[in-house]
Amino acid sequence: MITIGVIGCGHWGPNYVRNFGALAGVTVRVAADVDQNRRTVVERMFPWVKTAADHRAVLDDPAIDAVVVATPTGTHFGLVKEALEAGKDVLCEKPLTTTAAEALELARLAEEKKRILMVGHTFLFNPGILKLKQLLDEDVAGRVYYLHAERTNLGPIRSDVNVVYDLASHDISIFNFLRGELPGSASAQGGRFLRSTIDDVSFITLRYADGVMASILVSWLHPRKVREVTVVGDKKMIIWNDLGVMGPLMVFDKKVEREPTYLDFGEFHLLTREGDITIPRVNQAEPLRLQCDHFVSCVKERSKPRSPAEQGVGVARVLDAINLSISKGGMPCQVQTE
Ligand SMILES: NC(=O)c1ccc[n+]([C@@H]2O[C@H](COP(=O)([O-])OP(=O)(O)OC[C@H]3O[C@@H](n4cnc5c(N)ncnc54)[C@H](O)[C@@H]3O)[C@@H](O)[C@H]2O)c1
Repeated sequence: MITIGVIGCGHWGPNYVRNFGALAGVTVRVAADVDQNRRTVVERMFPWVKTAADHRAVLDDPAIDAVVVATPTGTHFGLVKEALEAGKDVLCEKPLTTTAAEALELARLAEEKKRILMVGHTFLFNPGILKLKQLLDEDVAGRVYYLHAERTNLGPIRSDVNVVYDLASHDISIFNFLRGELPGSASAQGGRFLRSTIDDVSFITLRYADGVMASILVSWLHPRKVREVTVVGDKKMIIWNDLGVMGPLMVFDKKVEREPTYLDFGEFHLLTREGDITIPRVNQAEPLRLQCDHFVSCVKERSKPRSPAEQGVGVARVLDAINLSISKGGMPCQVQTE
């Protein structure tokens, strides 16, 4: 039996209580939140789970093996550090921290304490994204020219971090996972339309190796909920749409072919080719349930998670570069690797 404690029961935390509670061989023992109203919600939804105002009720409980940190981003560093020092395995919500330096410190601490530290990059457990990764690894798209992600909606609007930490952290984790590397540089612009200190909208460009470009549009101020990634390759183009009615993936047999023009040797016509659109089969399951299940396996088997602390460090490095670029009006900034 693996015993879990959850710290932070706002919008997202109760989803952890529900998902871990549904797994065989797992029990959720304590859920902590400083807000009485949130504790009342948990008590009503999950009457068998003890609640506490102080997170130390979770960390000091010797029966608890592993801790979920689902509090606002700015609190992750302190809480994860305390949890690792208390000897707990930790699953921390994304982004791991607000700076790469803090993320690196946590990754080192987890290693030193021989504890599992996994980051809740949910999309690395999304069956559609996993299928997209498989298709790219099988060279279905061919040489990738560029990637584009859109993650927009009207709200929810956060006050603790900007839209880049909140939403773009998902797309950065997806891109880094698909590419198997970090981008070399980032340039970004931010828009502060609702409040003077927090970016609600950001247009981001990342540069990966071999000239691969990746752009991200994130917004809390948009008429349409969009969760999409487009991959344009020299053989095929693929769209992942998390809200797709027919399935999350569409593979477009569309490309541009180069045909020699014999009148003018050495010159080429660029001809567009439009073939079929296919919808690969994807077995749908709740990504958070798959993520919780994976974390429990890692805790039991002492194995490295699919989204380990290093993944959190990588995303934090890209976030550092994006936020620096926004502060410099869009100047390209290097993603630090040391
Ligand atoms: N993976 C995803 O798809 C996804 C979705 C939503 C949120 N998140 C992440 O989850 C985290 C929480 O987001 P949310 O939307 O639930 O935020 P939220 O503000 O709704 O909830 C956070 C809760 O933490 C509590 N809290 C703050 N400090 C605490 C402390 N020291 N001890 C105990 N409780 C404390 C607050 O009272 C609040 O109830 C964020 O990091 C966010 O990025 C991830």
